[in-house]
Amino acid sequence: MSKKSDKSEDKQDTMEKIVSLAKRRGFIFQSSEIYGGINSCYDYGPLGIELKNNLKKAWWKEMVQLRDDVAGLDSSILMHPKIWEASGHLEGFTDPLVDCKKCKKRFRADHLLESKGIKPDFRQADFKKHKIKCPECDGELTEIRDFNLMFKTFMGALENKASEIYLRPETAQGIYVNFENVRMSANKKMPFGIAQIGKAFRNEITPGNFTFRTREFEQMEMQYFVHPAEAEKWFEYWQQQRFEWYQKMGLNKAKLKLRRHKNNELAHYAKAAVDIEYDFPFADKELEGIHNRGDFDLKRHEEFSGHDLKILDEDSKEKYLPYIIETSGGIDRSVLAFIVDAYTEMEARSGDKDAKHETETVLKLHKDLAPIKIAILPLSKKEKLEELSMSVYGQLKENYMCAYDTTQTIGKRYRRQDEIGTPYCVTIDFDSLEDKKVTVRDRDSMKQDRVNIKELRDYFREKFGY
Ligand code: GAP
Repeated sequence: MSKKSDKSEDKQDTMEKIVSLAKRRGFIFQSSEIYGGINSCYDYGPLGIELKNNLKKAWWKEMVQLRDDVAGLDSSILMHPKIWEASGHLEGFTDPLVDCKKCKKRFRADHLLESKGIKPDFRQADFKKHKIKCPECDGELTEIRDFNLMFKTFMGALENKASEIYLRPETAQGIYVNFENVRMSANKKMPFGIAQIGKAFRNEITPGNFTFRTREFEQMEMQYFVHPAEAEKWFEYWQQQRFEWYQKMGLNKAKLKLRRHKNNELAHYAKAAVDIEYDFPFADKELEGIHNRGDFDLKRHEEFSGHDLKILDEDSKEKYLPYIIETSGGIDRSVLAFIVDAYTEMEARSGDKDAKHETETVLKLHKDLAPIKIAILPLSKKEKLEELSMSVYGQLKENYMCAYDTTQTIGKRYRRQDEIGTPYCVTIDFDSLEDKKVTVRDRDSMKQDRVNIKELRDYFREKFGY
């Protein structure tokens, strides 16, 4: 077997282990599992929701709390249907599809061309010339048709054309149509941004790779409104900011890259675009896009709503339509990247006698992202020890997400916490009853500190920064 296929099998193996760990430990479950599951939909379990919330909190802190030039928003998922005409989604948010005339399966034309090593310039591509058949049954394929990715539903009691409405395929449009509201109410001077986290829906034809591409997902988007002459400068600025943020939150720099879109790749709204890509086990894939959207969006919303969205520069008296620099990331994709990146297998570590020769999994998540910050582990279930342990637990959980575990050996309990990325374990032993001290073990260094219970809060304040 070649080295290359060895490597790709290892990668597939890693993905399988991660999917299995995600389910077993309560990070991510298949949606509707007891009914056989529903394709491409996932539920976040008790640890998954903590990780996801921590990621959102970290993003919000970076993008809103620490900045004076960005304000937050939570706009509704259902919006006026004209918004999707103005945004270009009704016309242009499509995938090129072909159907198999024999088995009736549907495929993305560009993916089929790519799989044959043909540049996916699908609109000119002649499937017949390249003799491309159905990859499942070798049947003949139909002509390429454009398929709109928006989910359609009806609002109100009637199901007719007039009541048709869409689930938003991006959170961005909710920001553009609130541009004036936010600018006026938050009294923002140019340049400024609006940030939003929320669900988006796309009827993807080829969802897959676990939570990487799904039909329901969450985005974290920020739209930065600038004078057109400054657009290029801010486009560069936001690429760097966002690229550095993923590293600051712990992603391995060697696995991240910035990739600039070629002109024929650009979305209908973009003047220029750069992707932040992560080296997932299945391929280098996009985590976030940074786009220079020009004045496309505000101009179209002016046109379709009849509302003047221009800015008056008080100093120069110039009236202009701002350009928009967008940072658009996927929360589910990022959660997956952070899990993949943190996933570490190692020889069972010293001090863990009952685990000799076994390998151990450690999820080396950044402390701010770890679902559980501290685990409290009494060495025995004796009443006196439990009493003291419960009081330590009660004290710490006021400030940190904590776990309390008395089951099985201490070695097994350490391993369970390592596997979910808990940065600190506090063990309470019989000496603790006398000296009122506990042992704090660090997940990564395995260093142990003996800390006075009264000083635990200060100890962890220093470790976590809060
Ligand atoms: N407002 C611009 C916009 O939505 P996009 O590149 O289509 O741009 C932005 O999407 C981000 O949203 C992507 O980088 C990705 O992280 C996430 N995303 C897009 N489609 C997704 C899907 N089907 N499943 C999961 N995440 C998705």
